[in-house]
Amino acid sequence: MLVNHGLQGIVALETDISRVDGTTGTLEYRGYNIHDLATFSSFEEIAYLLLYKQLPTRFNLTGFSDELALRRELPEKIVDVLYQLPSFTHPSVIYRTAISCLGSLDPQLKVISPDENLRKAKDLIAKTPTIIAYHQNIRTKTPIIPPREDLSHAANVLWMLNAVEPDPIAVKALDLALILHAEHTLNASTFAARISASTLSDMYACVVAATGTLFGPLHGGASQQVISMLRELEGKDPMAITQWVVNKLFRGEKIMGFGHRVYKTMDPRAVELRKMAQELDELTGNSWVARLDLLADIVYQQKGLYPNVDYYAGSVYANLGIPDDQFINMFTMSRIVGWTTHMLDQYLNNKLIRPLQKYNGNETQSYVHLDDR
Ligand code: COA
Repeated sequence: MLVNHGLQGIVALETDISRVDGTTGTLEYRGYNIHDLATFSSFEEIAYLLLYKQLPTRFNLTGFSDELALRRELPEKIVDVLYQLPSFTHPSVIYRTAISCLGSLDPQLKVISPDENLRKAKDLIAKTPTIIAYHQNIRTKTPIIPPREDLSHAANVLWMLNAVEPDPIAVKALDLALILHAEHTLNASTFAARISASTLSDMYACVVAATGTLFGPLHGGASQQVISMLRELEGKDPMAITQWVVNKLFRGEKIMGFGHRVYKTMDPRAVELRKMAQELDELTGNSWVARLDLLADIVYQQKGLYPNVDYYAGSVYANLGIPDDQFINMFTMSRIVGWTTHMLDQYLNNKLIRPLQKYNGNETQSYVHLDDR
């Protein structure tokens, strides 16, 4: 029996949602190249594209954006829960707890139908930033800043986090990060969401499963680790950084933000985020990109690894003043679109996801009674 550890190389399903070519570094959402989407699109537009399988007309986009804006506010009970949770808890853990509570308030929780699924998807996309921002307000003991209906998804998050009129460049930067993180084939968290949906569990449970899976440092937790690593390396010269990399690799440790299961070349999302991080560095006077580039050169020389999407994402968020432990929630705010799109697809063409295993334990044994051991 052939075992593919980590399901590496296994094709588990067919999809028309997105496509990655890991050798050429190509990513497409529903056939549209990520570089075109990054240049010309908006988060709302790609959310529509993913959910409705086509680019919106101007009329459709306005209607969809308005609908998301109207769905942003949270039930009072969720706000109460956010106040109850400890301030030391990681924001991603808070988020998944709040999503579970949100599900408990939905009278249509168990209804799985195309219309209800779409309604829940839009609700989850719209409410995710509010959960994240309200918790940030609460844990920093600042007044809750309610969402605004006149702002785009990205602008509204920045408004709720900072309570100042969002800067257009910051909005553009966050919108770009949201576009780039929205969907990425069968990554671990999306697969978790699909596994959960394949049991016909509810959409909130699927998001909880996906968020818990995203949390790990090998997945969405990587961007926070990258910034911690840069802070650790601050002030070190290239020789010292090289030695640090060599030692880490010698110990068999991973360097966060490098490597990818599918891309064996530069991740196209990292290319776009690097450009944006550089633009922001010039405005803020920070030097994240210079330091990231230096480390990337060293890691490439030592191990031939390319940076992935999480490598430059942190430098964009840090330049926007987003706290390190909220980086993963910025990812969630975007990937919720991919998760929900995949769930809709799974419910529509459902087949329980249940792989096999190869047993390598004891041969059949005779049971020995407790008193006789
Ligand atoms: N640092 C050091 N070595 C790495 C590495 C990293 N970030 N990523 C991969 N490698 C090495 C492995 O040690 C292994 O080397 P070996 O063949 O000499 O033993 C080889 O590359 C293959 O790595 P492996 O972990 O088996 O690949 P994978 O497809 O299972 O893992 C990741 C993919 C993303 C989990 C892995 O690259 C990783 O852990 N990266 C760091 C975390 C990260 O940035 N995650 C965000 C992903 S978008």
